[in-house]
Amino acid sequence: MATSPSPATRARHDELARAIRDARYRYYVLSDPPMPDGEFDGLVRELEQLEADHPSLITPSSPSQQVGAPTDSAFPPVEHPLPMLSLDNAFSREELEAWATRVTRDVEDVAFVCELKIDGVAIDLVYRGGVLTTAGTRGDGTVGEDVTAQILTVDDVPYRLDVDDPPALLEVRGEVYYPLDAFEAMNAARIERGEPAFMNPRNAASGALRQKDPRVTATRPLSVWCHGLGALEGIGFDSHHQAFAWLRDAGLPTARETEVHTDLDAVWDFVERWTAARHDVAYEIDGVVVKVDDLAHREQLGFTARAPRWAIAYKMPPVEQATTLRAIEVNVGRTGKATPYAVLEPVLVAGTTITYATLHNEIQVQAKDVRVGDRVMVRRAGDVIPEVVGPILSDRPQGTQPWSMPAECPFCGEPLVRPEGEAHHLCENVDCPNRLRESLAHLASRGALDIEGLGEQTVELLLAEGLVADLADVFRLQDRREQLLALEKWGDKRVDNLIAGIDAGRQRPLDRILVALNIRHLGPTYAKTLVRARPSLQAIRDAGPEELEAIDGIGPVIAAAVHSWFATPRNAELVDELVALGITTDAEVATPTGAQADLLAGWTVVVTGTLEDFSRTEAKEALESRGAKVTGSVSGKTSVVVAGADPGSKLDKAASLDVPVADEAAFHHLLEHGELPDG
Ligand code: IVH
Repeated sequence: MATSPSPATRARHDELARAIRDARYRYYVLSDPPMPDGEFDGLVRELEQLEADHPSLITPSSPSQQVGAPTDSAFPPVEHPLPMLSLDNAFSREELEAWATRVTRDVEDVAFVCELKIDGVAIDLVYRGGVLTTAGTRGDGTVGEDVTAQILTVDDVPYRLDVDDPPALLEVRGEVYYPLDAFEAMNAARIERGEPAFMNPRNAASGALRQKDPRVTATRPLSVWCHGLGALEGIGFDSHHQAFAWLRDAGLPTARETEVHTDLDAVWDFVERWTAARHDVAYEIDGVVVKVDDLAHREQLGFTARAPRWAIAYKMPPVEQATTLRAIEVNVGRTGKATPYAVLEPVLVAGTTITYATLHNEIQVQAKDVRVGDRVMVRRAGDVIPEVVGPILSDRPQGTQPWSMPAECPFCGEPLVRPEGEAHHLCENVDCPNRLRESLAHLASRGALDIEGLGEQTVELLLAEGLVADLADVFRLQDRREQLLALEKWGDKRVDNLIAGIDAGRQRPLDRILVALNIRHLGPTYAKTLVRARPSLQAIRDAGPEELEAIDGIGPVIAAAVHSWFATPRNAELVDELVALGITTDAEVATPTGAQADLLAGWTVVVTGTLEDFSRTEAKEALESRGAKVTGSVSGKTSVVVAGADPGSKLDKAASLDVPVADEAAFHHLLEHGELPDG
């Protein structure tokens, strides 16, 4: 039963209302949300619960009755022909079912459209007589910002509809988004340059769209996806799916991956499938939107003050969460790069507990002003390493101090130096124990020499026992049989396996040997490029930086890194020792230079799942540098789908379209030979 609210309840309601209004303003207007979405949703739920218990708290000015936020004056105002509403949320199957029960109470024979909820910036496109006349942001739902000039720079959005008899008025709603690949590449480049990274793709999209100068927007790879209708004149539709078929034919980019179901189990199946596959699409999704398909049913169901009754958004677990930063520590990797990382109060982000997250480098920490003791936002999207995106300044405790990189390497005590023009500090001590440990582990790893029997724990053990003290020592282990046999639980079989593994490692192709040397910036793709141009270790050692840079596909950064690595006396010694110990020094078959650039011309490739030897960006680069086109979704035009671990729904799509699927080994073959292996 409703009771009249106590002063404490009123005060809490006030506090929540203020926090929600402030957060909406910062989210919609400033593109700078003050808290993770999950936390924001929590505030809204608490406010809604208070209002459910005490309906007298519901006033027109309550955030529960409003949508978005009033705009500031940077852009001219534009009134939407019909208000842009928001959506009610469901966080569980029960809540989704409760919504569906309410729907089926009012209408019969319901079909549900299931769509992905794309995490972008809402946009309202108004076509009059088939021509785009205005594009507006949501604003407060009634009046938004006029971003027509900016939207016209987005390739996906047609200026003129491709129809013979255009309607007098067609208002279409959609989302502007920043494709994930482009977002990750842009942030990686910003981090490399020591510029602050964008918090998430939505923020990047919002920032790009809100550029006063549309020429700046034009340089950003924005896309649009339409998912709804507003006002219509001179045209009518019976159902959502029928309308969207028409919009697609008219040249508008419409929501893909859509399914229509009459059965709620099938709707829930769609939710579960996409929750598992959310990282397989080229854009960030944060939920599934379920809508009643029939437009007459929608009319019957109507609206609340802020949302339609005929649709609901199922929210997936957020990829951003807030937690406390306990400490900032520094790791020194195999190439000497010193990377600060956050030690966090453990927090569940999109289904995984996160305790550590990267902070990239000192410039990033300082640009974000992240301090020990802060509440921070942590983001983990797909196979990307979890990162701290920024502090929640309003929660900052007293007495925190700005962070700076320690002067000395925490593992060897040598100075950490930041080379001129670089964002990262380095430990230049080749014998630094942590560097050595990581170098050895990497040497033995899949992408390098793939030495069976030499995992991280064995590396630790061999180091602790003094059986190896540098990379060359690995290839001397065959002479230390007795010492190996003396180790606890090491019998003949284990020792034989390790020695056989090392022997196989020694004979890997030259590009893998190069990768195993732990040269900065030199991953598998570039190593292959180098070897193709200079098919012997000696030829690579002898090359000056200009000669390396002259190789097609090798830039100045890699050329300098390779040259300076071989020029370091300690490394030169190591290479001499490795050569004496019998590692591969020559490439088996030298592909003629230049043949690579169009090896895969005409191929359209989709990469999905997690690959062992390549990040997504590396895989894309490897393909594109050979002339292939890389796309985010499988279609009839796709030549092959490259599938790593946990590939998700793209494989089903490939199977349904009879598109061949390549595993990682076949992918290597494709990159090498320009064709898929037989069978
Ligand atoms: S339908 C009356 N479908 O999410 C509103 N919205 O959190 C109907 N969104 O306001 C919206 N993907 O800006 C719809 N497939 C989708 C969507 C979607 C993203 C956005 C939209 C909406 C917001 C609600």
